[in-house]
Amino acid sequence: MIGEKSPEGIIPLQAKLIENVQFIYELALAELELEALGAKFTVTNGLREFILDNQCDFNSILKRVAYFKTIGGKVTDYYKLTRYNRTKSVNQYLTHWIYPYKGKFHPQMIRALLNILNLAEEDTVLDNFIGSGTTAVEAQLLGINCIGIDISPLCVLQSKVKTESIYAITQIEALKEEAVDSFSASNSDTLFSRQETKKYDDFLSSLNDKRVRNFYLMAKLVSISDKERRGRDITQSFIRNSSLMIGSVKDYASAAKELDFHFGKVDIKQADARNLPLDDESVDGIITSPPYSIALDYIVNDAHAFRALGYDLEEMKRECIGVRGRGSDRIWLYNQDMIKSFQEMYRVLKKGGLCAIVIGNATYQGQEVRTIEFTIRNCEGLGFRLLKNINKIIYGLYNVMQTDNTLIFQK
Ligand SMILES: C[S@@+](CC[C@H](N)C(=O)[O-])C[C@H]1O[C@@H](n2cnc3c(N)ncnc32)[C@H](O)[C@@H]1O
Repeated sequence: MIGEKSPEGIIPLQAKLIENVQFIYELALAELELEALGAKFTVTNGLREFILDNQCDFNSILKRVAYFKTIGGKVTDYYKLTRYNRTKSVNQYLTHWIYPYKGKFHPQMIRALLNILNLAEEDTVLDNFIGSGTTAVEAQLLGINCIGIDISPLCVLQSKVKTESIYAITQIEALKEEAVDSFSASNSDTLFSRQETKKYDDFLSSLNDKRVRNFYLMAKLVSISDKERRGRDITQSFIRNSSLMIGSVKDYASAAKELDFHFGKVDIKQADARNLPLDDESVDGIITSPPYSIALDYIVNDAHAFRALGYDLEEMKRECIGVRGRGSDRIWLYNQDMIKSFQEMYRVLKKGGLCAIVIGNATYQGQEVRTIEFTIRNCEGLGFRLLKNINKIIYGLYNVMQTDNTLIFQK
């Protein structure tokens, strides 16, 4: 029997990494997650196989790990759930793919961090820069409750659609034909102005269930993005994407049935990370990735979606960290905003709780902005203790280096 005592002693368990694990930081996270789940192990010479040599909780490891394909010859839950994928990207399984948000977390890494942070079912994790909702989906799948905060209504919408549609899938599916009819009648495929969307907007207004309305609003934004970014026919895009989205939500239900999930509760709020609407010491862990200094203009990047939602871009820029201000003032404002955000993270985290921050340096006018050092210095100044600093270096085309660090602190 696996991991049990035999007359010769304990029979070791073999754990094999998933094929897509290729980087040193992934190996580091794989080791840390096994350790956090109570396993003692040795990494074999080939580096892709581990031998677990203690009587660990085999079932819990099989259910939770992110980087392993098999443990003791049995396929892990994570590997099984990543098979529910409607896209060509290995990371974009289940509902992760919905909306092409720039700067998404790697979901596998978030699952490993949830393990490394020792978060159990019913614990609460906070992501105070939730973005496209990666932490919310991964926490939900592990039965961990998640509070997701973002200043951007587009991020709030994405995160809600990815985690809440499962509870309204019957109504969503029943309305598909009506949605396609009103969408097709709404536009001329030259411009998707507010005037031209009247028919579809009337359809949206007729939906009483917010989860259903959010789903179909998201389907519209995904199609607008397909048209703006890739020049695709907007109606065809809507038909294709709404079908794919329904398929992915149904996959969620199938995966939950196959793997007997107990979903965590998800609470997504539009709020400001500098002033969190949460009580002191109210969350068990934090996993987040703030803007990397002024590296990316989140408002300009999704301008078409904000316009379609009826927002004033200039007004939105005033509250968005890393985007506020002009010229070198932007860096100064970023620093002030992040100091407030770190204070808030420290305030709401329970004593002894762990906090993972994924952050990279940026470049401004040819000069490196040392956001990683800034983050470490300020978090330590608040009383956080840095436990791990895991460097992720990826070389892309033309030797372009992309680097960010995962910092794990303890309060
Ligand atoms: C690096 S992205 C997070 C991406 C996310 N980890 C994901 O997987 O999609 C940073 C996020 O910070 C958000 N943000 C900027 N200013 C904010 C503020 N004042 N309060 C809360 N969120 C803010 C942006 O809208 C953006 O979604």
